[in-house]
Amino acid sequence: MSTYEIPVVPGDGVGPELIDEGKKVLDAVSEVFGFELNWIDYPFGAERYLKTGELLSEEELKELSKYKAIYFGAIGDPRVEPGVLEKGILLKIRFYFDQYINLRPIKLLKGVETPLKNKGPEDIDFLVVRENTEDFYVGIGGTAKKGRTKKELEVERELYDIKFGLDIESDSEEIAYQIGVISKEGTERVIRYAFDLAMEREKEVFSVDKANVLSEIYGFWRTIFSRISKDYPLVKTSFNYVDAVTMWFVKNPEWFDVVVTPNMFGDIITDLGAMIQGGLGLAPGGNLNPSGTSMFEPIHGSAPKYKGKNKANPMATIWAGSMLIESLGEKQAAKAVLGAIEKNLSERRALTYDLGGKAGTSDVGDAIAEMIKEEI
Ligand code: IPM
Ligand code: MN
Repeated sequence: MSTYEIPVVPGDGVGPELIDEGKKVLDAVSEVFGFELNWIDYPFGAERYLKTGELLSEEELKELSKYKAIYFGAIGDPRVEPGVLEKGILLKIRFYFDQYINLRPIKLLKGVETPLKNKGPEDIDFLVVRENTEDFYVGIGGTAKKGRTKKELEVERELYDIKFGLDIESDSEEIAYQIGVISKEGTERVIRYAFDLAMEREKEVFSVDKANVLSEIYGFWRTIFSRISKDYPLVKTSFNYVDAVTMWFVKNPEWFDVVVTPNMFGDIITDLGAMIQGGLGLAPGGNLNPSGTSMFEPIHGSAPKYKGKNKANPMATIWAGSMLIESLGEKQAAKAVLGAIEKNLSERRALTYDLGGKAGTSDVGDAIAEMIKEEI
């Protein structure tokens, strides 16, 4: 019997209660399919940070590197300044483990209502491959031309103000900048991954960028895309501007199959994708390093106002769990989990408030775990 050790980061807000349901369902499926999961909890998140100031240490990262897949709940807490936990924990893990692919399925499951008129599950079924370690996420930036010191002002006033009547007290010149960077290797590997995926699907890859304006960075992206596409003569390709894509996701989602895009556009269009597949409660993602440590999480945040209320929808987290065991090679079990999620939806057995139901978080996990056992 295979045994897998899985590090778990429940995190903040509703993260822990959602992860509990994920573990419940994966435990059920492991029993049915004859493998074992050993969960190892890690306490990263707001609580620990507020108590000890620790985010995520080098030793902890080293320890995590022993594993193939991390199960991640959510982070973010109103008591902590925005960005601290995100950068110190979530992005830290993505970068440290070089999880260069963020795979986000946009799939409308049966029984879920999409806000798009006249569209159904056959129309909304594609994958967004978001580059996950570069672009505007590299963290290169700063501010300049800051306000002058008192002394500098006095000197300048003498020089300019008195002579020319210029208002030198104003700080209007102050600037901020942040730079997007993509590398040849980083771009090649994510695009190649998208083409490989397309070969298993409908053999069509959509590049999403903004090469008409940010032509240095995304012109480079396009050059590499074109180069790689030559290795896949069977795959149809197209270049698309991100602004237009937000329109087509809504108007013609059936056009899309595999979408590959730089980090920041990927962040934005997958929230839109989540909405057309029925909401953030149904949108999972995998941060992948195919030869290292990956991490699976719902794409939503920690929803602090629902914390501890047994209200939040655990299905995105459970679906992320299905992606996790798939990455470990348990393909049939992964399919069974997604099948049970879909059955729960189409039979409307246990649905949370966001899907018009009255079930609690734990009822959903119970129902899905139960259905996995029924199926077999
Ligand atoms: C996501 C999130 C993160 C991102 C934040 C929390 C850093 O929005 O996973 O989409 O921007 O990647
Ligand atoms: Mn996001």
